[in-house]
Amino acid sequence: MAKGPFKIPVITIDGPGGSGKGTIAQRVAQALKWHLLDSGALYRLVGLAASHHGVALDNEASLKILAENMDVQFVVDEPDQPIRIVLEGENVTREIRSEEAGRMASKVAALPGVREGLLQRQVDFRESPGLVADGRDMGTVVFPDADLKIYLTASVDERAGRRFKQLREKGMSANLADLQAAIQARDEQDMNRAVAPLVPADDAVIIDSTDMTIEEVFTELMHHARQKGLIH
Ligand code: DC
Repeated sequence: MAKGPFKIPVITIDGPGGSGKGTIAQRVAQALKWHLLDSGALYRLVGLAASHHGVALDNEASLKILAENMDVQFVVDEPDQPIRIVLEGENVTREIRSEEAGRMASKVAALPGVREGLLQRQVDFRESPGLVADGRDMGTVVFPDADLKIYLTASVDERAGRRFKQLREKGMSANLADLQAAIQARDEQDMNRAVAPLVPADDAVIIDSTDMTIEEVFTELMHHARQKGLIH
């Protein structure tokens, strides 16, 4: 819910893994000088916290408690730098980006208790002057009153290729065929789960970025933001 008498504006960017939402959300937040919510990171953190504490990934009651109580900090070191993520005092910025962390995240994200446990944390990111929120259910569940809802997608091959490049650039090992299979499996799990499945909101603008550069997606999104009166 919006805080105070004035509604704090929100732009939501939902879509499947590898669609470019993270990069675009960061670009838009920087351009507007708004806050940023990377909700996928929260699900990744629940998976990681569970593995640190020896909690099974199907133990919904314990995972809900972890989701509500885990000690997480999103630290902004420099305004133009990626956010540093600290879980229980440990810098896990790199660790949560692994394929294994993504797989665990997708698993715990299917549990209603975990989604409930993370809801208030996500809503609390809505601070003045505005919020850019990226995830799977930002426009459908967490911020249904968002001012602009984007659903960003791309083909499986394109998304796997981007992930491959990203991992290699970070010096992490990767195999393209494995990534394609993992992306397909994760899509399947995220789109077909009973709670908050990955679907475009009825009022979302759908952007297929398969043949677009980041710059083109950014320009199109800012055009929609201008049309909605979010930029003057
Ligand atoms: O965007 P990501 O790859 O970091 O997300 C990791 C997983 O978390 C993804 O497989 C699905 C889940 N997720 C979710 O269910 N809802 C969100 N709002 C964000 C992520």
